[in-house]
Amino acid sequence: MANLKTTYLGIDLKNPIIVGANNMVTDVKALKKMENAGAAAIVYKSLFEEQIQLENLEMGESMNEYADRNAEMVSLFPNIDHAGPEEYLMNLYKAQKAVDIPIIASLNAVYHESWVEYAQKIAETGVKGLELNFYSFPKSFETTGKDIVDEQLEVIKAVRKAISIPVSVKLSPFYTNTLQVIKKMDELGVGAFTLFNNLIQPDIDIEEEATFYPYHLSSPTEQKLSLRYAGLLFGEINAAICSNTGIYQGSDVIKMILAGATAVHVVSTLYKNKIDHIQTMLQEMEAWMDKKSYADLAAFRGKLSRKNSSDPYAYKRAQYVDILMKSEDIFKKYPMV
Ligand SMILES: Cc1cc2nc3c(=O)[nH]c(=O)nc-3n(C[C@H](O)[C@H](O)[C@H](O)COP(=O)(O)O)c2cc1C
Repeated sequence: MANLKTTYLGIDLKNPIIVGANNMVTDVKALKKMENAGAAAIVYKSLFEEQIQLENLEMGESMNEYADRNAEMVSLFPNIDHAGPEEYLMNLYKAQKAVDIPIIASLNAVYHESWVEYAQKIAETGVKGLELNFYSFPKSFETTGKDIVDEQLEVIKAVRKAISIPVSVKLSPFYTNTLQVIKKMDELGVGAFTLFNNLIQPDIDIEEEATFYPYHLSSPTEQKLSLRYAGLLFGEINAAICSNTGIYQGSDVIKMILAGATAVHVVSTLYKNKIDHIQTMLQEMEAWMDKKSYADLAAFRGKLSRKNSSDPYAYKRAQYVDILMKSEDIFKKYPMV
């Protein structure tokens, strides 16, 4: 029988399927269901800077200052009034007590001081790791890309110094050179990279003529960027590569591991296919590994990475040219005239 064990953030996991941060995890019953369905670890919902600011009287001011985040918060936390940081920390403690699998907390702060202070408080709850959720995209025309990266590197340094539990980073792909940013963060001892953050984009209601912030459940077509980066990073960094976005089936997990991933995060598939789907994904992986006679994940991890791929064009520009040259096939399938 196939062995699905993996190591993530220095923690031994029974398999590579980690439940990513989402709202279901705030319900202890759901946590237990995830554990029973075979999840190897669970990332708890993020603690946001706005929740931290709830504790101070300048909340109104802070929320105006971060108007875009405010909107995100209201849609992610309809009960925001009741979700202050103390309650969050207590819920984290209870979550880790409720299940035997590791709980990884997630922090999404703004101020340097908040990152460090709450990383420390979170580490004291007994969780097994902390994911720094760098939900950041350019908001001003003045800030340089280097400013953004430097600030994030400083946060990593300070948090790593302040706590002893392992630290992972969840990133957006929107850096000028994402590979270089990851390499720099890796050198600071980040234990894992969750690739990528699925940023919530505002939409526009044309009847109301107002913006709104819909929940976005991903689709499997969105997994390709994570797949590519797993392939590019395999063998190049010390940290674990954790693929995220659009992973729906066991076959998707297999693809990520073939590219080079150590583990995956899943969220949307659990909303759409229910929590028990984890079990189906694991069974699918086992069946494939048995069919291919792979005893464990190491036997095929990174087989199709840039380092190991026998396809000379994979991960290169020629791939793109190849697709363009094959565009005739698309016209045949979807004739326009
Ligand atoms: C309802 C919901 C709540 C989420 N909350 C968080 C969060 O608190 N922190 C975070 O880092 N990501 C959060 N996410 C993003 C997911 O963790 C994940 O990165 C994203 O959904 C892509 O994975 P998927 O394609 O498997 O859904 C949330 C996603 C959903 C759908």
